[in-house]
Amino acid sequence: MLAIDRATVQFHSPGGPAVRAVDGVSLEVPAGQFVVVIGTNGSGKSTLLGSIAGTVQLASGSIRLAGHDITRWSQHARARLIGRVFQDPRAGTAGSLTVLENIAVAACRGRMAGLGWATSRGLRDEAAARLARIVPGLESRLDQPIGSMSGGQRQIVTLVMATWHRPELLLLDEHTAALDPAAADRVVQASNSLIREHALTALMVTHSLAQAASLGDRLILIHRGRIELDVQGPAKRRLTADDLADRFDRLRRADQLDDAAARTLADLYV
Ligand SMILES: Nc1ncnc2c1ncn2[C@@H]1O[C@H](COP(=O)(O)OP(=O)(O)OP(=O)(O)O)[C@@H](O)[C@H]1O
Ligand SMILES: [Mg+2]
Repeated sequence: MLAIDRATVQFHSPGGPAVRAVDGVSLEVPAGQFVVVIGTNGSGKSTLLGSIAGTVQLASGSIRLAGHDITRWSQHARARLIGRVFQDPRAGTAGSLTVLENIAVAACRGRMAGLGWATSRGLRDEAAARLARIVPGLESRLDQPIGSMSGGQRQIVTLVMATWHRPELLLLDEHTAALDPAAADRVVQASNSLIREHALTALMVTHSLAQAASLGDRLILIHRGRIELDVQGPAKRRLTADDLADRFDRLRRADQLDDAAARTLADLYV
C-alpha cells in the first residue's frame, strides 16, 4: 500500500513567489490498485510522482510504501521498491545496448548476479517469454540495439524492465505523450496488461481523457496541487471522457474568474 499523508512540496524561484506545487495531498492507494492521474498543465502531477520517487523533497507530510516510511529515503533506495517509465522513450534505456542487455541491467539491479548473466540461456528465455506475452513478435528483436527500435517498442521494453522484479509501485508519467496515437494505444494496452498480470499498484499520469475514462480502478484529478476529484468503483466505471472534459472546462472557467478577480484587485490597489 502507498499512503501519502498531508504532503506539501514548495518551489522557490529566485525573485519570484513560492509555488506550492503539491498542497497538502493525502492519498491512500491499496496494493494492486491502478490509479489514473489527470490535471491541467502545471497542476502538480509530475511533482507528486517525483515526491514519491524521491526526486523532489517534501516540505511537510510523509509517504509510506509497503510498510516503510520512505519520506527521508534517497531516490536510489526508493528505486528498489518503485519502477518508473517517463515520457521520453530514450530516458529508461541505453540506446547502444541490445534489448536483451538492457533487460539484463534491469534484471541484475540490486541482485548479486553479474552482467554475464545477460547471455545466459535462462535470462534470454525469460526475456523472450515476457516480451512475447505483451507484444507477440517483439521477442525476435532481443539482439538488436534498442536505439534501432521505434519509440513505442522502446517504451514497451522499458515497461517490461520497470516491472521485471514486480515493484511495490509503478509510476508512469505521461509515458505515451511522445508517441503517435497508434503507438500510444499499443503502449497503454501493454501497460494495462503488465499492471493486471502482476497485480501491480500503479499511478499513471495521462493527458488523454479517453484513457483516463477507460483505464484503471480509480481516477484522481489534480488541480493547483490539490486532489480536486477522486472516484473509484461504480462511479469510476460510469465516468466518460465527456464528463472529464466538462470538469476541466469548469475548472478553467473558475481559474479565469480567479484571474479576473485578481486583476481587478490589483487594479484597485495600484
Ligand atoms: N524544479 C522546479 N522548480 C521550480 N518550479 C517547479 C519545478 N518543477 C515544477 N515546478 C512548478 O510546479 C508546478 C507544478 O509542476 P508539475 O511539473 O508538477 O506539473 P504537471 O501537472 O506535471 O504539468 P504538465 O501537465 O505540464 O506535465 C508548476 O507551476 C511548475 O512550474
Ligand atoms: Mg508533468
